[in-house]
Amino acid sequence: MIHTGTKTFESKRLICRRFEEKDSFDMHKNWASNPKIQCEYGEPVYPTEEDVKGLLKKYLDSYENQDFYRWAIVEKASGQNIGQIAFCRVYSDCATAEIEYCIGEPFWGKGYAGEALSALVDFTFRNTSFAKLEAYHRNANAKSGRVLEKSRMYKTDNVERFRREGKEAVGETCYCIERSEWEKIEMLKLINNRRSYRGKYKDQKVPKSDLVKIMEAGLAAPSGCNKQTTSLIAVDDSELLKKLKEVIVSSVAETAPSMICVLTKRIPAYRDRCFATQDYSAAIENMLLAIVELGYQSCWYEGHITDEDKIGRKMADILGVPEDYELVCFLPVGIAEGEATEPKKKSFEERAWFNGFGKASS
Ligand SMILES: Cc1cc2nc3c(=O)[nH]c(=O)nc-3n(C[C@H](O)[C@H](O)[C@H](O)COP(=O)(O)O)c2cc1C
Repeated sequence: MIHTGTKTFESKRLICRRFEEKDSFDMHKNWASNPKIQCEYGEPVYPTEEDVKGLLKKYLDSYENQDFYRWAIVEKASGQNIGQIAFCRVYSDCATAEIEYCIGEPFWGKGYAGEALSALVDFTFRNTSFAKLEAYHRNANAKSGRVLEKSRMYKTDNVERFRREGKEAVGETCYCIERSEWEKIEMLKLINNRRSYRGKYKDQKVPKSDLVKIMEAGLAAPSGCNKQTTSLIAVDDSELLKKLKEVIVSSVAETAPSMICVLTKRIPAYRDRCFATQDYSAAIENMLLAIVELGYQSCWYEGHITDEDKIGRKMADILGVPEDYELVCFLPVGIAEGEATEPKKKSFEERAWFNGFGKASS
């Protein structure tokens, strides 16, 4: 039976998948026969490929077991099995797992261990109900500590294994990450890593349920005096999209399989003040973040359609939008084919201060 421990996950340069019979050659060549690797975490050395086959059989047979979580780490560029990552202990009663990993010596120094570990942390909290992940390393091996920290784990007094054995962590440094901490970090990562994506999109439809989630995030934004001046139209009908793209003219969002059009109604909120611009801006940022969280990309297209050529009004007419609403922005939504480019941003110190204009934090 398939369970989470046999599902594949990946990072930029690595694929972590269940072991396969063909792995014995690379396992033997890259790590299982190397005492430097095997002895580090107390495993026997497997001198011949035949010996490795015995270990591999144990792994393959264990995939039947629901508590068995062990992945081969495969380098995308070479297709080689370069190591492994696993939950070496699972404590179901407290939803905690202990991680172990190894990377073959020829592949050291490339940041692969941290990359695999980070990917496993994300995969676990996204796809399983584990509440906590733990790991530890010998104090002599400080590099491992850096790997664990890079993957967002932090020091803790003890790990479940030692607690249950009634043992102090002497000569070892323990690390963990709890789901709640991971969620906080993820949220900030999402905000800080969002980028405007202006490249091509994959020819893959966005499910209506995801478009609803994105629009719900938009409508959840604050609005001045709660006037809720922003309305939204998601477009995923291919004929309508074609018509809209014809008026958008340039190659902007040409391949996007859907888009969300943002409408505003300039209702006065307080005396003669209207906060419609602020309202829809808050809604747009919420939606951009929701779009990225759901695995899509987008860009805030406003300048392009609110110029003198009044593209926004032409789009509004196609969508049957009444005259007292303005179509001010559209957000393409789709799976990106490429990467977003990094914009140049001013440094923190140039734009953010403590206790007065231009004042540094210390
Ligand atoms: C009000 C507003 C209007 C924008 N209009 C456009 C636009 O018409 N076309 C475009 O390519 N990007 C547009 N953008 C995106 C910005 O160019 C982009 O946010 C900026 O370059 C910073 O890059 P980042 O989003 O990757 O941080 C707009 C952004 C805002 C806030």
